Amino acid sequence: MNVEPLVRVLEDSAALAEAAAEEVVGVLGAAVAARGKVSLVLAGGSTPRELYRRLAGSPWRERVDWGAVELYWGDERCVAADDPASNYRMASETLLAGLEAVGVEPAAVHRIAGELGAEEAVRDYDRTVREMAGDPPRFDLVLLGMGEDGHTASLFPATVDPEGSGRLAIATVAPVAPHERVSLTLGALNGAETVVFLVAGADKAEAVARALGQVSGDPADAPPAARVRPRGRLLWLLDREAARLLRATIDVAPPMAAEAPR
Ligand code: 6PG
Repeated sequence: MNVEPLVRVLEDSAALAEAAAEEVVGVLGAAVAARGKVSLVLAGGSTPRELYRRLAGSPWRERVDWGAVELYWGDERCVAADDPASNYRMASETLLAGLEAVGVEPAAVHRIAGELGAEEAVRDYDRTVREMAGDPPRFDLVLLGMGEDGHTASLFPATVDPEGSGRLAIATVAPVAPHERVSLTLGALNGAETVVFLVAGADKAEAVARALGQVSGDPADAPPAARVRPRGRLLWLLDREAARLLRATIDVAPPMAAEAPR
């Protein structure tokens, strides 16, 4: 079943990061309580940086049983892990830096080895996801951002076959450098239980309206972000600027009640 998006508009980027932290803690807590372990797919780009900083510190860090979390990435640039453009580096400087203290197992951190080049990195990550998250994967929580063109992860409007035709990871070419990317496919993303988009800034407003179907036009022209329709819950967390072209927003239910870590 592909659910309809829920939209929650926050005052500014700080409130967005706070609301996102509440969602992450709520979803991960419920999943760990239900299954004893949980898979979290991290978003790249710059928007999630403030969220990751929050999760790595008190009180948020203590509200998740991080030892039960398997970490993945939605996409990666084909650069070294310590390159300033690396999505892994951004997460390791913020989220992982704080989580060492609470026992995230290094073996549970499944970064995309972009330094291998796209084709080898795709083979490596596709195999890791199948082995660790299942085939098809059922990620408990996927965090995503969105670009001004409506791309998400590294699925761009010009990406051929973003569904992936059974593949879980594909090589794509970004219109901006670094051009070589690796991305989870829509097929992998849409198997998720929960997807949360984090989008902030006036420059995203047009893409947000298009992605949420509030701009008339040919459905075939819908941006890649519009095609993310997970099995369970789809939540868009927006700041006021990114939401300014939306006709109406639906206030979502309160965040999921976070189970205390076991
Ligand atoms: C990437 C991201 C990409 C990002 C959007 C938004 O590797 O760049 O995966 O999909 O989420 O481009 O980026 P900002 O958060 O920097 O605006």
